[in-house]
Amino acid sequence: MTTQASSTGGWPATIELAGGPVTLRPLTADDKTALLEFFRRVPAPERLYLKEDVTSTQVIDRWVRELDYTRVLPLLAWDGDRIIGDGTLHRSRAEARRHIGELRIVIDPDHRNRGVGRTLLHALVDVACAGDSQLEKLVFEVVADTERAATHTAEAIGFVKVATFSAHIRYFEGEPHDLHVYELQVGEPIVLDDPAAHMY
Ligand SMILES: CC(C)(COP(=O)(O)OP(=O)(O)OC[C@H]1O[C@@H](n2cnc3c(N)ncnc32)[C@H](O)[C@@H]1OP(=O)(O)O)[C@@H](O)C(=O)NCCC(=O)NCCS
Repeated sequence: MTTQASSTGGWPATIELAGGPVTLRPLTADDKTALLEFFRRVPAPERLYLKEDVTSTQVIDRWVRELDYTRVLPLLAWDGDRIIGDGTLHRSRAEARRHIGELRIVIDPDHRNRGVGRTLLHALVDVACAGDSQLEKLVFEVVADTERAATHTAEAIGFVKVATFSAHIRYFEGEPHDLHVYELQVGEPIVLDDPAAHMY
């Protein structure tokens, strides 16, 4: 397991928020049960939007087995021994997309609107801004109509809407929703030394 996050993030970090202290630190192999319990508290329609079945023991087992913070950094928010938020920074293995990071975030419904989401998003942006991250921009996808809090939180941090994919997401009821793509510039453009060497 690589540990880039701990060297850049200074985890664990405890922040005083409305309702008490919240501790941020990356996922470790010991967190499987707490993570599964957390995802099972997230309403089903919100889980559907996530890219994997996060209530599956097999999926969480695989995440923990394949932990590589330089590829996916899962940053957890803790209230005592309970996980109340999960934010992830994803990097592509493809050379052509190495400069782009993707952020995803979900907060326990019982702990929303106390600043956990914004704090987690900020912490992930800080990791992406670190000099050694090699990231130029971050992408954050928001489902139109259903994720107004996410839109608000992303815009508060400085993300700007750059694209909308029409009728891109279908929830249980089958109604299509547009998908908004937000971006945040976090670093200088990286010039490839020999473009031909990076063709795919
Ligand atoms: C989006 C989400 C992560 C925000 O988490 P959170 O911990 O509640 O976030 P915060 O408390 O830091 O901030 C929420 C902000 O949204 C605002 N908000 C809440 N509901 C809102 C709504 N329906 N419309 C507009 N703004 C809203 C709050 O007032 C707050 O703004 P403020 O800080 O200016 O007061 C959380 O709602 C969530 O997990 N949603 C489901 C998953 C999701 O949509 N993920 C994003 C795509 S990956």
